[in-house]
Amino acid sequence: MKLATATTPRAMRRMSERLRGRSKTLAFVPTMGGLHEGHLSLVRLATKSADRVCVSLFVNPLQFGPSEDYARYPRDTKRDLSLLAEAGVDVAYVPAAEAMYREGFASRATVTGLDSVFEGASRPGHFAGVCTVVLKLLHAVMPDEIWLGQKDAQQCVVLERLVADLDLPIRVRRGPTVRESDGLALSSRNAYLTAAERAQAPVLYQALVLARDAARAGERDPVRLRERIVRHVVTAPLARLDYVEVVHPRTLARVDRVEGDVLLLVACRFGSARLIDNLAFRAGAGEPA
Ligand code: PAJ
Repeated sequence: MKLATATTPRAMRRMSERLRGRSKTLAFVPTMGGLHEGHLSLVRLATKSADRVCVSLFVNPLQFGPSEDYARYPRDTKRDLSLLAEAGVDVAYVPAAEAMYREGFASRATVTGLDSVFEGASRPGHFAGVCTVVLKLLHAVMPDEIWLGQKDAQQCVVLERLVADLDLPIRVRRGPTVRESDGLALSSRNAYLTAAERAQAPVLYQALVLARDAARAGERDPVRLRERIVRHVVTAPLARLDYVEVVHPRTLARVDRVEGDVLLLVACRFGSARLIDNLAFRAGAGEPA
């Protein structure tokens, strides 16, 4: 089937009703465009999981801080649409900012607590922007499931909370992080890296792997695990660490002891790029081989 596009919430809702018909399932992949293999892996998972797939392309002004990269965020709708057509997507939802945020727009959806730690502490208002736009997108698309990337682990936890708390009849699914061959997680923001920064950026994933290996070798102290990550990242002279955290993957609460399910979070600047990465694993009792 040919890729259709919708540019307003009303047109998208009509399209969704038509696509679903009486009994088809619809999966939704929200994106800000600048599509890469990370996004496309979610599209493939969605395609396998549901009868119909909708992908949104919308650089959401509400989730960028005043000194962030909204203006220079990579935009190439033509290329994105051709990638989506090739991937067998049914509808691209490409709203204009004016169609999403009409004059006088003043509402916000927030997930309190989870929205003010880690990414939320470094980027005040960011998750309110994410929750508000995702809620609006969900109202327009009306999917059975939404696909999110583990790359943005805190975003997954926040949106899972939002969907559960507001009784949205939508299943939240996660896809694994797609990486370059040297371990760097794919991100639209990698485009901001200079050659020297790009060469050093893999320290983030390397540090996470070193810490996971230390945990698997018996390290139970989250402070020492954190130090392990910091010690490796600072070997890259261009890295400026923002935070490193050892938390529970569902609650994002800091752990006292590295045991069971653990999530390592890291955020770091390289020049004008701010990169995040994470690694979830099981430590100690019940660890899979
Ligand atoms: P964006 O950064 O475009 O990411 C869209 C989706 O792709 C998110 O679920 C993100 O976690 C996922 N993704 C990004 N890089 C990935 C990678 N390397 N591997 C796997 N998945 C990856 O996240 C957003 O947009 C926005 O906040 C959005 C949810 C669209 C709301 O505006």
